[in-house]
Amino acid sequence: MQKTLTIGMFQSGGVRGSWKIPGRESEPNFTDLDYWITLARKCEAAGVDFLFFADSYGYPTMDGAVIPGAITHNVNFTNIDPQVILSALAAHTEKLGLVTTVSTQVEQPAVVARQYRTLDHLSKGRVGWNIVTGSAQAGSALLFGEPLMAHDDRYRKADDHVELSLKFWEGCWEPDALQRSSITQTWADPNKVHEIHHRGPFFASDGILPTPPGPQVTPTLFQAGASAPGRALAAKYAEAVFLAAESKALAEQIADIRGLAEENGRGRDAVKCLIAGTFRVADSYDAAAAQHRAQIEAISLDQAATHYAYYTGIDLMSLDLDRPIPESAAAGDNGRTNIERFLGPDAPTVRQILEEFRANGVMGKPFLGSPEEIVDQAQAMIEATDADGFLVQPEPDGNHDQFFARVLPEMRRRGLIKDELAGNTLREHFFGVGCTQLPDTHPGAAFRAHNVLV
Ligand SMILES: Cc1cc2nc3c(=O)[nH]c(=O)nc-3n(C[C@H](O)[C@H](O)[C@H](O)COP(=O)(O)O)c2cc1C
Repeated sequence: MQKTLTIGMFQSGGVRGSWKIPGRESEPNFTDLDYWITLARKCEAAGVDFLFFADSYGYPTMDGAVIPGAITHNVNFTNIDPQVILSALAAHTEKLGLVTTVSTQVEQPAVVARQYRTLDHLSKGRVGWNIVTGSAQAGSALLFGEPLMAHDDRYRKADDHVELSLKFWEGCWEPDALQRSSITQTWADPNKVHEIHHRGPFFASDGILPTPPGPQVTPTLFQAGASAPGRALAAKYAEAVFLAAESKALAEQIADIRGLAEENGRGRDAVKCLIAGTFRVADSYDAAAAQHRAQIEAISLDQAATHYAYYTGIDLMSLDLDRPIPESAAAGDNGRTNIERFLGPDAPTVRQILEEFRANGVMGKPFLGSPEEIVDQAQAMIEATDADGFLVQPEPDGNHDQFFARVLPEMRRRGLIKDELAGNTLREHFFGVGCTQLPDTHPGAAFRAHNVLV
C-alpha cells in the first residue's frame, strides 16, 4: 500500500544567502519578523505538516578557538533564537506544526519544559521539540564555559533530561487539576497538582512545573543525531526523527530505529522517519543539475572544511587528502554521525569527503529534475529506505517557493500527501485525529499524574 508522506520544511534562525548578492547585502531577513511570518504563512497555505527551525549554540572551532573563516563567510555562525520566532509564528498560523531544537546539553529541564509548554498553549497544541545532544559541542562548551563532555555521556545526560522533562509534563498536573472556580474560589486542586521526585545522574528535582498542561500535554518529540546512542534515544522517546545519508545507510538506520522501537514496546511505526531531502526542480534534469553545479562552485573547499569541522571537530585540511579519515577519529567527543558515515570498507578519501560536503553538506544527494522526475526519485527513496516522509531543505534563496509551486502538486496528484491535515495539533497531523497526547506505549505515559503515587 502506498504511504501517505509526512512533509516538514527545514529552516534555521540563521542568515540567508542574500547578503552575498550585489545590491541585496543589507536585505533584512533573519532578523525581520515579517520575513518569518511570510514564510510560515506560505507553509501553512501549502498544507505541509510542520515548519522546523534547526538550532545550536555551537559554532565551528578548532583547537579551542573559533575558526576565523566561519565568521568571515558565516559558516554555521550567526543566528537568532528560534523559540522566540515560533511564539510569533503561532499567532499567524492555525494548523502548521511549529518545531525547533533545544539541546539537552546546555538548558535545564525545568526551563525547557516551561518554554515548550508555553509554546504548546500559544500555538494551541502545534509545537514540537527536536531533542539533540547538539552539533558543534566544542563551540557550545566554550560559550558556556564548560569542558566538552564525552560523546556517550552527552547521550546519558539527554536521556536523564528527557525523563525529567516528561515527569514535569505528564506528572505534575492531573487532567482536571485546574478548576478556575469563582464559586469555590479555587484556582487549582492541590491534591491534583504534584511535586515530582527525580534523582538522575545529571538532574534532580523535587518540584512542580508551575505551568498547567497545554493541548498536547507533552510537545510532539523529535530527535536528530544518528550515532548508535542517538538512534537508541530516538527509539525510546521520539515520535519523529530526522535523518540524512545515502539510501543504503538510511535504510539501515531506519530498520534499526524501527526494530528498537518495537523492542521498547512502542511498535515499528511509533517513530516517523523523515529524510532531509533537497529538491532542485527545473524544466529538465540537465537544467536542475546545472543549477546545482553553480551552487557548488560558489562554495570553496575551505568553507566545506569549516562546515565539516562544525559537526565533527575534525580539520580535514590537516589530513592526507588521498586517504580516508582515520578510524581513531570516530573516538572523538564531537558529533559522530558525520564521521561514522565516512568510515568502513568503502570509506571515501578526505578529498572526496570535502567534495561531498561542498556539494551536499550533511544532507545527502539532492533530487534533481522536472517535477515528475523529482517525485519519481523521491518515491524510489521512500521505497528503498522505508522512510515516512521528508524534511525539505530550503532553496538557494532560503525559501521553499519552487517546492510548493511545482513539487507538492505533483506529490498531491499521485496521492502521496494528504489533501488536508489530520486534526489541529501536531501529534494529530502525524498519528490521526484524536491522537493529541502521547500514546500509552510511550515511556512518558508511565509518569502520568494519575498513574503515579507521589
Ligand atoms: C535534518 C537534521 C536536522 C538536525 N538538526 C539539528 C539541530 O537543529 N541542532 C543540532 O544541534 N543538531 C541537529 N542535527 C543533528 C546533528 O547533525 C548531530 O548529528 C547531533 O546533534 C550530534 O549527535 P551524533 O553524535 O549522534 O551525531 C540534525 C541532523 C539532521 C539530519
